[in-house]
Amino acid sequence: MKISLHNISKSFGKKQVIEELSLEMEDGKFTTLLGSSGCGKTTLLRMIAGLETPDSGEILFDDTPVFSKEKGINVPPEKRNLSFVFQDFALWPHMTVFENVAFGLRARKDKDNLKERVQEALDAVKLGDLKDRYPHELSGGQQQRVSFARAIIVKPKCILFDEPLSALDAQLRETMRLEIKQMTTKLNMTSVFVTHDQSEAMSMSDLIVVMNGGRIEQCGTPQEIYEHPATKFVAQFIGKADFLSEDAMVRPEAVTLSEDGELEGTVTSSQYIGGKYILGVDVGSSNWTLSSGRDYPVGESVRLTYDREKTVRFAGE
Ligand SMILES: Nc1ncnc2c1ncn2[C@@H]1O[C@H](COP(=O)(O)OP(=O)(O)OP(=O)(O)O)[C@@H](O)[C@H]1O
Ligand SMILES: [Mg+2]
Repeated sequence: MKISLHNISKSFGKKQVIEELSLEMEDGKFTTLLGSSGCGKTTLLRMIAGLETPDSGEILFDDTPVFSKEKGINVPPEKRNLSFVFQDFALWPHMTVFENVAFGLRARKDKDNLKERVQEALDAVKLGDLKDRYPHELSGGQQQRVSFARAIIVKPKCILFDEPLSALDAQLRETMRLEIKQMTTKLNMTSVFVTHDQSEAMSMSDLIVVMNGGRIEQCGTPQEIYEHPATKFVAQFIGKADFLSEDAMVRPEAVTLSEDGELEGTVTSSQYIGGKYILGVDVGSSNWTLSSGRDYPVGESVRLTYDREKTVRFAGE
């Protein structure tokens, strides 16, 4: 299912949270809304779900309006054919895994082959053997899988995820990133995923929407956003940027230490990250980041060069 937003705005009281925002999310693709806390990600997701009403604009699912201020259309959440996966999993503590997953079907009085369908959803998330457990008898990752099984069992056209991995530890988060991406791809589901974690966004998305203060800063594939950031904000928000001037930068991969390099600097930090060191180098106008095969003591003078073809200039802000 394709989702289109046209000129969506939303204010809470006097505070405008979303400003005239337009966006297309393609059928079967994984789109991530990325931005810092308070930039309006959850508000936007809730408007897609019908849990929040925009002040203006239109939301279309496959070219059919589910919200239109002008035409007075506002389809209620339960009729939008979406599932929502929350940060806190929102499982029913007094129900078993099986009953948690069956809940959505029972609520719709959709009981044909219920047992088989629940089993199928649990097998898909590798929880087939744990269906009689209660949520408190599961690990965080297993609870997250239950909430995912509950979302997919109703065969929605789209799944909305609001920071679903932030309650998990770092290692589990990485495993679950892969699992969620693989499952949504396999089920060919349109996914809209909210996070403030840029590495999560980079590793999972077909399309990243970088948001800043209720507006879209840039929209593109992870490669486009990383290699061709449109603004200084994006350059700083995604990965590390070494600034040549206010409106030009290179990524650390384009920078190398070289005895006859044209830039002179002083090492300010060195971190071993396995296999290589990440150096901070003060080049006068700014502090640069680059990687090095060997360690350098803080305070050492070094010379640097960079690949001019990899220079990115911002169109202006
Ligand atoms: N129901 C509400 N009433 C009043 N203000 C709200 C309401 N919901 C959200 N806001 C405000 O709107 C702004 C955007 O909130 P939102 O929850 O969309 O941000 P977010 O990008 O999801 O942030 P986070 O990463 O912290 O979850 C915030 O300033 C928030 O305080
Ligand atoms: Mg939020």
